[in-house]
Amino acid sequence: MTSPIWDKTGASVDADAMAFMSRDDVLLDRELLPHDIVATRAHVRGLRAIDLLSEADASQLDASLADLAERFASGSFVLDERYEDGHAAIEAFLTDQLGDVGKRVHLGRSRNDQVAVALRLYMRATLDATVDRLLASADAALLLTMEHQNTPMPGYTHLQRAVPSSVGLWMGSFAEGFADASELCLTTRGWLNTCPLGTAAGYGVTLPLAREAVASELGFDRVHLNPMAVQAARGRIEHHVIATLWQAMQEVRRLAWDLSLFSSEEFGFLRLGPGFVTGSSIMPNKSNPDMAELLRASTAVVGGAMSEIQQAMSLPSGYHRDLQVTKPALIRAAKVTLEALAHVPRLIATMTLDEESMRRSIDPSMFATDRAVELSSAGMPFRDAYRQTADELARGDIDASDAEASLQARVSLGACGNLGLDLIKERLKSLRQARK
Ligand code: ARG
Repeated sequence: MTSPIWDKTGASVDADAMAFMSRDDVLLDRELLPHDIVATRAHVRGLRAIDLLSEADASQLDASLADLAERFASGSFVLDERYEDGHAAIEAFLTDQLGDVGKRVHLGRSRNDQVAVALRLYMRATLDATVDRLLASADAALLLTMEHQNTPMPGYTHLQRAVPSSVGLWMGSFAEGFADASELCLTTRGWLNTCPLGTAAGYGVTLPLAREAVASELGFDRVHLNPMAVQAARGRIEHHVIATLWQAMQEVRRLAWDLSLFSSEEFGFLRLGPGFVTGSSIMPNKSNPDMAELLRASTAVVGGAMSEIQQAMSLPSGYHRDLQVTKPALIRAAKVTLEALAHVPRLIATMTLDEESMRRSIDPSMFATDRAVELSSAGMPFRDAYRQTADELARGDIDASDAEASLQARVSLGACGNLGLDLIKERLKSLRQARK
């Protein structure tokens, strides 16, 4: 390993201990390095603004940071165990390229605010990408909703047959669920969009740093003011981001559950696209919904990451190296969520529905609620109508009625006969605008 940035006379470095403290961490910093570089460029401009860097030094640093970003993206600069962490790698690169000018970059900052700002930018980008994928998933669900607005399918409660429902209602529930999750991502994004840079190790510095200008250059809504509050927020913000991703994954899990259930022989309502099922190594007859199952399981990985961070959140004021263990959980949760969501639109678009099978599963008893409401709206108190319908049902007096007519009559806003698709389309449009 290159000598650490905190090396000084009398410091000693134990290779095994260093490996324990930073081996995984420096590899995870590959996710953060581009953000760290962006924030470092803003920090350089901030130092220039208060004349702590000359114009010449600031522009050399800026050019060298841009060069590092390019080299990292192309693979010609590799962040690995040669460095203690990504922060040290940036300083080593600048010093290597620019000599003494490179050594000036760390004035007025600490790795504690440096990692906090890189993480904040990473979380913001993760939430933005999550919103994009959620909205693509909502679009796919909405398309099927519109195609099958009046296609009857059974509606269940407790997994027991309840009332006639429609594919439109079922798929529309995912369009709305993905919209809800997008909105939560945007809310969380707003909540965390404050700039920790310029708080240094957690106590500020003896310099009139251009904190507000740096914050706005980085697209933050305001500075995260109190340096100790910044350190106290580390891990807690990550936890809230993972909780937000977990909410999005809940919708993926419900979809995955429904698809695995409805594609079984017992239901036989749909077939998943050929690319999304696998065969068995021994049973030649099998076609298994592994993709849906692994999407369902991805929710557990995100939930696990959330618990992992909770375990680390029990610290007194100030920075503690414990906080480093919140990084793997955040990055894992972000990757799993984004990977899972990337498959959802095609999973929805490529399934084929068996309309006949769905219709066959709507039996006469499922029209009982319509009948009770009909009797009651003609004047009979609802409880009496309910009991009379139950008696008619027991005598076999309720005929299998027309499922489409039942759907059309369900006119309460949001229900099968009045899905309110314009409202959901409008909402998706405004979420898209808010994302920009
Ligand atoms: N890898 C460290 C972290 O994630 C970076 C900050 C190190 N700061 C320190 N004072 N040792 O927390």
